[in-house]
Amino acid sequence: MRARVNPASPFARKVRIVLRERNLMGQIEEVETAVSPVTPNAELARSNPLVKIPALILDDGTGLFDSRVICEYLDMLGNVPRLFPATGTERWNALRLQSLCDGILDAAVSTRYEMAVRPEPLRWKDWIAGQRTKIDGGVDALEREQPSWGRTFGIGQIGAACVLGYLDFRFPDIDWRSAHPRLNAWFGEISERPSVHDTTPRA
Ligand code: BEZ
Repeated sequence: MRARVNPASPFARKVRIVLRERNLMGQIEEVETAVSPVTPNAELARSNPLVKIPALILDDGTGLFDSRVICEYLDMLGNVPRLFPATGTERWNALRLQSLCDGILDAAVSTRYEMAVRPEPLRWKDWIAGQRTKIDGGVDALEREQPSWGRTFGIGQIGAACVLGYLDFRFPDIDWRSAHPRLNAWFGEISERPSVHDTTPRA
C-alpha cells in the first residue's frame, strides 16, 4: 500500500501521524506528492478524482480518500489501541472533535491558497476575514474543550495537533498561544510525541 502525502498538508499529516501511532510505517510507503489548486497532478488524479492529498492506494489499486476515511481504514489495521472509539458517546465525541478540527483546517488551507496562490488584485478581504472568524471560533472551542481530553490521544486530538501545527507553520502572525493557555501547554507536551515530532510541517 502507498499513501500519497505532502509534508506541508495538515490533512496528510493526520494520516502520517496515524501511520506512526499504528506502527504501520513498515507496511505502507509514504509517497511525497506535489499538489496545486490550479495545476492538477495527473498521477494523483488516477488515485483520487478530486486530485487531493492524502490518498491511500490499496494493494488492489483502489484509491481511498479523504483523510477521515483513510485514518479510519488504517485504524482497522495492526493491533495497537484504536484511535477511533468503536461505539457510543465516546465515538461521537471523537468524530465531532475531528470534524471541528477539519473545519478549522478547511478555513486555514483555503485562506493560505487565497493569500499565496490567488493573484493579489483578485483577493477578497471580506472572505479572508470570514475564514479567520471560523479559525478563531474553532480554536476558542478547542481551548474550552481541552480539559475533557484527559490523557487521550485519539483521532480528535490528532486533528487538534494538526490545526495548531499548521497555524504555526503558515500563519505565524496568529498568536493563538496568548489567549489559549491550556492548548499551549497541551501542544507543547504533545509536540514531543514521536508521531507528532516526526511530522512537523515543512515546505
Ligand atoms: C500548504 O502548503 O500549506 C498546503 C499544501 C498542501 C495541502 C494543503 C496545504
